[in-house]
Amino acid sequence: MKKIIVTLDGYSSCGKSTLAKQLAHELNYVFIDSGAMYRAITLYCLRNHIDWNDDVAVQEALQKINLDFDYNAATGSSDMLLNDENVEALIRDMLVSEHVSEVAANQYVRQFGVAQQQKMGEKKGIVMDGRDIGTTVFPNAELKIFVTADPAVRVERRFKELYAKNPNITMAEVQTNLEMRDYIDSNREFSPLRKAEDAIILDNSNLTREEQLKTALQWVHNKIKE
Ligand code: DC
Repeated sequence: MKKIIVTLDGYSSCGKSTLAKQLAHELNYVFIDSGAMYRAITLYCLRNHIDWNDDVAVQEALQKINLDFDYNAATGSSDMLLNDENVEALIRDMLVSEHVSEVAANQYVRQFGVAQQQKMGEKKGIVMDGRDIGTTVFPNAELKIFVTADPAVRVERRFKELYAKNPNITMAEVQTNLEMRDYIDSNREFSPLRKAEDAIILDNSNLTREEQLKTALQWVHNKIKE
């Protein structure tokens, strides 16, 4: 069967990764969480005191960074490896979330991420989620989905996810972080978050995971048949 590229872009915590992972599983495609790559770079910068506003320091740091994905049978998705270290749990920390949008706005960080992501899509059969996947990484992707959800729904979902790991987290902290990231991601100079003109909007505010998967799968099958 013809293999295609499916891109999912959208604001923070609107369920892109969940849907991308489910879609990839159903289609037997590769799932790539591009945000994990920017999070791993952020972790490297924080650990090594790299100033992400200093382009020279960032370029030097990027030469020492090797990113990889390692399939984890227990979770059914891939863990992020930073220089061979499994950092999947660490990159979801609030400290990384607080800085990832600033790091991801650096033009050299973007070039680094986009080049690796494009390589991963060479053989098609891939579902990738992020912010600029349909606009910059795969502008010719066969199916582009722009995922949205009501801001209050997004905050609540993210809060539940983080609270399970850290009961000290507050709803206000989560809301501030989401608003800040959405603002930086949408207003940065290099490949800001935008809906690609040919992307289909999927508002999942009132959809169950099963319902959104069914809708997206139908779109994929329609594209494969075209
Ligand atoms: O999807 P996420 O929330 O894990 O992404 C973390 C951050 O990484 C997000 O706030 C912006 C950045 N990002 C990006 O700039 N481009 C992408 N393709 C994916 C994520």
